[in-house]
Amino acid sequence: MSGTLQMPREDDITTLRGGATAAILASDLDRKVFLAQETARRWHRRRLSLRSPLDPPLPDRPGRPEKPLLVPPKNTEKRSLHTLPGRLAMLHALAHIELNAVDLALDIVARFATEPVPQSFFDGWMQVAFEEAKHFGMVRDRMRALGADYGDMPAHDGLWQAAHATRNDLTARLAVVPLILEARGLDVTPSLQEKMRETGDIESADVLNVIYEDEKGHVAIGAKWFRFLCARQKRDPARTFQELVRANFRGALKAPFNDIARAEAGLTPSFYRSLTATSHA
Ligand SMILES: [Fe+2]
Ligand SMILES: [Fe+2]
Repeated sequence: MSGTLQMPREDDITTLRGGATAAILASDLDRKVFLAQETARRWHRRRLSLRSPLDPPLPDRPGRPEKPLLVPPKNTEKRSLHTLPGRLAMLHALAHIELNAVDLALDIVARFATEPVPQSFFDGWMQVAFEEAKHFGMVRDRMRALGADYGDMPAHDGLWQAAHATRNDLTARLAVVPLILEARGLDVTPSLQEKMRETGDIESADVLNVIYEDEKGHVAIGAKWFRFLCARQKRDPARTFQELVRANFRGALKAPFNDIARAEAGLTPSFYRSLTATSHA
């Protein structure tokens, strides 16, 4: 793709799959956010068909700006939230997660647009894509208010790689993306929000609160459609989840879990307890 500035163009949104693919391909992040949200609006207003043979092919990797530099996960450092650089590092990591989440939600829609699922499946994932784009914008605005921006620091590529392993199996994709990666957000966000409040950064804490409330809905959408696919295949949801996670996700799940928020979203402990690392500090 060329590095020239690409302005938002509505005519990239010809179908749901076409609009989602154009958003994934966009390397200019303002354009990516615009295309994700405009595609969601038009789909929800029933102004788009699902797909057409003329839709652009789905790329293996999403379009991204030159910065941030992508590094292996272990090279990203953790710093205290009591310093401005520490808070900015946390916000940067969060912006990167939200940006990945935009592409991951759109990828579920575009990659699996030929699956025999009800229209409401796509309604749900386009709502997720819309909200992830909103989250990315909120975190980026907060970074800018603090004198920094997304792209200033290195970031890791683990989220996209984790999802890529499930590109041929929708049930596995739902096990990994909403039910592992997004559910992890429910576990860690409340304490992060609390620490942010303690440092006096109420604005950042408020952003985290919006994200937390929306993410409960994302896990719920994931659990609903995961259970739907299991029921259709006459498979037990908890056991299927464990099999798919063992086959498609590296490593154990990390306790402690936010059992209440997870259960409210339809993800009960029978799904994830047996996948936890056995040793505890
Ligand atoms: Fe999000
Ligand atoms: Fe999410």
